Amino acid sequence: MTPLSLENAAQVARPPRDGLPYVRLDRAADVVLDGGALATDGDRIAGFAADATARRIDCTGCAVIPGLVDCHTHLPFAGWRAEEYAMKVAGRPYEEIARAGGGIASSARAFAESGDDAVLAQATALTREMLRHGTTSFETKSGYGLSVDAERRALDLAARLAREVPQTVRSTALLAHAIPADYAGAGAWLDAVAPLAAHDAATALDIYVESVAFGLDDLARMGELARANGRDLRAHVEQFSTMRSVPVALEHGARSVDHLACLHPDDLGPLAAAECAAVLLPGAEVLGDEHVAPGRALADAGAIGVLATDLNPGTSPVASLPLIAGLAVRRYGWTPREALVAMTLNAAWVLRRHEDLGSLEAGKRADVVVLDAPLEHVPYRFGHNPVAIVIVGGEIVHVREDQAWRLA
Ligand code: NIG
Ligand code: FE
Repeated sequence: MTPLSLENAAQVARPPRDGLPYVRLDRAADVVLDGGALATDGDRIAGFAADATARRIDCTGCAVIPGLVDCHTHLPFAGWRAEEYAMKVAGRPYEEIARAGGGIASSARAFAESGDDAVLAQATALTREMLRHGTTSFETKSGYGLSVDAERRALDLAARLAREVPQTVRSTALLAHAIPADYAGAGAWLDAVAPLAAHDAATALDIYVESVAFGLDDLARMGELARANGRDLRAHVEQFSTMRSVPVALEHGARSVDHLACLHPDDLGPLAAAECAAVLLPGAEVLGDEHVAPGRALADAGAIGVLATDLNPGTSPVASLPLIAGLAVRRYGWTPREALVAMTLNAAWVLRRHEDLGSLEAGKRADVVVLDAPLEHVPYRFGHNPVAIVIVGGEIVHVREDQAWRLA
């Protein structure tokens, strides 16, 4: 593999110091954005001096940042649900659409009706779109199966997707997404699907805790299932209503709690103090006209703040992390540095890949993104794709057409 020398960058984003597992957001101001260079050697970052023997990339005017990590997506899924979005915009609540057979159940029908190749073709096209927006690692989830066989199929397809794309992929078994109609209740479904917690591909288990989905007892049970199978516990919580899921999730050692638009004020301090990431999903918040998660207060209290797309056909059909950063900065009052660590190192920590991914440090994997402008332009030029060049494992995998001149 040709060594690369990224030179003359306006900013090279470095963590406050090497070896950190995450950066709590009250320390995000310590992220270094000095100008300079970055060199690769094989699939690794070699260091931060130009290398005259390597292939030169002219980074004049650019920010050089770590490859983005999208730690919450619902890939792979089948089809889209644009008609539901129109209903929501016209004022019909998500819970009502879900109760009428739309929502997750409708995506489960689409998944059942699509062949493996069709599901993978749609997912692969989305991973290419993600790559063009700087995402070099992402998470997949099952959850649109809604039968034991279909959930297993979703996990198998996620594993196939992982083998076929350039990105690093981590698989989550979202075993409790909705209660299938042919099960008596949450308990009966969890009894049936529990063996999939041991699926080879899955490194985490997930559950959707909500008035239209699963309850706090089910969350506790998922926590026990995760512990028994050596998997991380993740949970969709406090999205549409305040269920007080966070104390239960923390008690069970959750790696992350995701959504938090309706977080109870009393749960904010304990979450921020815990070694549990607060994953905010402003795409779902905006498109669902949800409450605003207390992003500023979580950051000030020192939470391990994370941003993700929540890419899914229902609540957030969004693949671009730069767009999500733009939403977060405006909606939560975050700084560009806070948004950056939230979608790089902190997100890598959620996926347990922080030792190798998520920050620019000598020896880490050379997943590097060159932006066409300084970092501050990412939220400011909202809707513009700032990604000029994407490097995965030391290899140039994407160059935006108008940026080709930067390569010698
Ligand atoms: O993260 N909240 C639950 N799950 C997904 C969306 C589910 C759907 O509507 O397809 C989410 O928002
Ligand atoms: Fe989600």
